Amino acid sequence: MAEQRQERVLVTGAGGFIGHHLVTHLKNLGYWVRGVDQKLPEYTEIDADEFEVRDLRRWDECLAATRGIDHVYALAADMGGMGFISANHATILRNNALINLHTLEAARINGASRYLYSSSACIYPEHLQTEAAVVPLKEEDAYPANPQDAYGWEKLFTEKLCEYYTGEYGIATRTVRFHNIFGPYGTYDGGREKAPAAMCRKVAAVEDGGEIEIWGDGEQTRSFCYIDDCVEGIYRLMQSDYDQPLNLGTEEMVTINELARMVIRASGKHDISLSHIDGPQGVRGRNSDNSRLRDVLGWEPQVTLEDGLSETYRWIEKQVRGG
Ligand SMILES: NC(=O)c1ccc[n+]([C@@H]2O[C@H](COP(=O)([O-])OP(=O)(O)OC[C@H]3O[C@@H](n4cnc5c(N)ncnc54)[C@H](O)[C@@H]3O)[C@@H](O)[C@H]2O)c1
Repeated sequence: MAEQRQERVLVTGAGGFIGHHLVTHLKNLGYWVRGVDQKLPEYTEIDADEFEVRDLRRWDECLAATRGIDHVYALAADMGGMGFISANHATILRNNALINLHTLEAARINGASRYLYSSSACIYPEHLQTEAAVVPLKEEDAYPANPQDAYGWEKLFTEKLCEYYTGEYGIATRTVRFHNIFGPYGTYDGGREKAPAAMCRKVAAVEDGGEIEIWGDGEQTRSFCYIDDCVEGIYRLMQSDYDQPLNLGTEEMVTINELARMVIRASGKHDISLSHIDGPQGVRGRNSDNSRLRDVLGWEPQVTLEDGLSETYRWIEKQVRGG
């Protein structure tokens, strides 16, 4: 048993992928944790001491969610993979702006001392991500701003909101920019899933000798970060005294075709071909520059893409088979 910590912690988005894993991590570290989300965790039991179903777009719900809380990990967002993000700009901007404006203000009014905001690599300018062989993105590349989607604009807006709240009200804020987090217990179907989960589902569902569909030519590049490293990084950043935005990802960049081949290897199937179809691809290339992460936290993600994918594949295969 971990020693009981003093601070009472709120995780918003605790019914979602990263939020659920973070609650488990914080419980293992000995924190009292309240989870809040508009839905219960889909694939797991509740680990939080309290779990409240609330719509955090609403001011009264945010006030209730943050009562008696010392540290807030703000992960709630209306989000999904490229298919969802590229087709719902107004909804995403409105919902996420309301969630973030109200959650941060309610946390301040209720006296929270620390607030971690989950931003995204989607804030980086589109014009720096036009080549597959992209230069890895440094934190200062965010400006002059030109994110591809409303999702990224809203994240950038809330990053600034956190900065201004620290300046004007003194609440300590931490801002983490995730780069493609993946792992078990994340959305893998229904339209909000991201590339690694979608790939695992497609490979699990197809017979050896069949084919899976890939959006675009599959030569677009990304780096992916395993969930265990993600929650470790979040926690380390919250404990640090660093109040500027920080990348949290890996520097192991692959094409989407390479990602698909890794999943196929993890599946043990031998003969699956890739069929390239039209579909939203997001930016052409994206990779994280972890120089500042290493400087600030003295740490960076450890799990290789291959190891993370094999864990993720095993879990999604089990879901696809219905068990
Ligand atoms: N997963 C990634 O690769 C990634 C990358 C960059 C940024 N992020 C950010 O990290 C955070 C967590 O992402 P995730 O991957 O766990 O996504 P997720 O969709 O699994 O979790 C987000 C949760 O927020 C909840 N939510 C949405 N609207 C709400 C509302 N009005 N009130 C209460 N809860 C609401 C959802 O129900 C969901 O459970 C998000 O802020 C996301 O934008 C994630």
